[in-house]
Order: sequence, then structure tokens, then C-alpha cells
Amino acid sequence: MSEQNGGGGTTGPGGAVVSVYEDGPLIVRGDFVIADQDGQPIPAGRRTVALCRCGRSAIKPFCDGSHSRTGFRAPGGAQGRRATAPDPAEEPPAAS
Ligand code: FES
Repeated sequence: MSEQNGGGGTTGPGGAVVSVYEDGPLIVRGDFVIADQDGQPIPAGRRTVALCRCGRSAIKPFCDGSHSRTGFRAPGGAQGRRATAPDPAEEPPAAS
């Protein structure tokens, strides 16, 4: 099931959508939790956040706009082999 969100996109079954922006961050909209590697929540403070993917932000995991100053370049969508590769988490377990 999906539904329209305020950003003009469609949310996934969990109620959130992640949008990949050309030369910029990942925008997350909807109902989501951001957690650290130990599972501890990182307060987002809002229903739409920008996550850094350039590695230059001073407020990681959030974007602070540094991607613009550093000339970060990346497509606004999927690229490479991973985009069409099957999800290993969805593959059946190997026979023993
Ligand atoms: S993507 Fe914006 S600071 Fe890294």
C-alpha cells in the first residue's frame, strides 16, 4: 500500500520515501526513524530531512549544504549494477 505525501511523491509501505537528489542529499519524507549503528534514535525534529551523501557535512548524518560548496556530483537516481541487482535480503537461504 502507498499514499501521496506532501512532497509530491508516494510513500512506501512503511510510510516514508527517500528521494535521491542530483548533486545533493537524500531527502527523507514521511514517518521514519533515524538511528545510529547501535539502534539509538537520532532526533530528526521534523517529517522531512536531508541526509548527507557527499561526506562533507559538519552535521552528519544531516546535510548542511556543503555539497554545493565542494562541487559534489552524483546522479538524481540509481546508477550502476546495484540498481538492478536482486536484494540479498530477499533471496532464499542456501540449501544445506
Ligand atoms: S549532501 Fe549536502 S552536505 Fe553532503
